[in-house]
Amino acid sequence: MKILISGKGGSGKSTLSALVAKALKDRGFKVLLVDADESNYGLHRLLDISFPVPLLENMGGKPGFKKMTSVTFPQSSAELPFKNGMGIDEFPEDCLAESDGIKLLVIGKIHDFGEGCACPMGALSKMFLPKLALAENEIIIIDAAAGVEHFGRRVDGDCDMIIGVVDPTFESFSLAKQMAGMAEKAGVEIFFVLNKIDDRVRDIMHKNVDRKNVVAEIPHMPSIFMDSLEGKKLKTSCREIEPICRTIEDFKKKSRPFKIPRAPWT
Ligand SMILES: Nc1ncnc2c1ncn2[C@@H]1O[C@H](COP(=O)(O)OP(=O)(O)OP(=O)(O)O)[C@@H](O)[C@H]1O
Ligand SMILES: [Mg+2]
Repeated sequence: MKILISGKGGSGKSTLSALVAKALKDRGFKVLLVDADESNYGLHRLLDISFPVPLLENMGGKPGFKKMTSVTFPQSSAELPFKNGMGIDEFPEDCLAESDGIKLLVIGKIHDFGEGCACPMGALSKMFLPKLALAENEIIIIDAAAGVEHFGRRVDGDCDMIIGVVDPTFESFSLAKQMAGMAEKAGVEIFFVLNKIDDRVRDIMHKNVDRKNVVAEIPHMPSIFMDSLEGKKLKTSCREIEPICRTIEDFKKKSRPFKIPRAPWT
């Protein structure tokens, strides 16, 4: 099952990706976290996983990627780096880091002034996500870049579920509505998590976000904030994460059995 974590910048996507990954691992799932944020580096620190070689760098960076994808068109399956029905362990070994039973894959980061846009990173996600064949107990959690560019790229269409993270800002409420509309168009179910909630903001958040798809409310926890401030591993456990795991498990049970995806070039 492939789950994309989406939301406004700073809403808590990486924090929740890490907490959900840990909670699912504790429930016996094999979890691959995909860092699809081309700017921020924090996800690996939250889980104290070493930073792996980003996939894009492994392919020769942007120049290598461009060369590979523009060889011929239409491409034959032999020229594409990812096989239809590939498994998690078929990524290059140095692109997968692991700690405490959770694997991490980083798509790519912007390093330099003037190096160009993040389009190759988005294109790369689109190349492998539909082809990944997961075993029953494997879950992929994609920590997306802030905003809705991934919807524009149709990356969300390759996922089974979207979790929208909403923090107490008016901007986040607007984005939640936009995400709900886009998820419907993509034909992917979206659930919302209200994050950083406390007594001051609870009523306003409830008024502004449609409750029917809200699966969890995560309190504002100073310990989460302080760990992140000091660049430390996320030590805090949070029982409010549990309803998210239950939603994922229920969704898995009722979703259709896995089919090997059709090759995009057939
Ligand atoms: N429930 C929470 N309680 C307290 N602080 C939180 C909570 N969730 C997240 N934060 C804090 O909010 C800040 C942003 O969190 P995080 O980096 O997870 O957001 P993000 O959506 O991934 O941001 P970005 O868009 O920049 O990648 C961090 O300082 C983090 O510690
Ligand atoms: Mg983040």
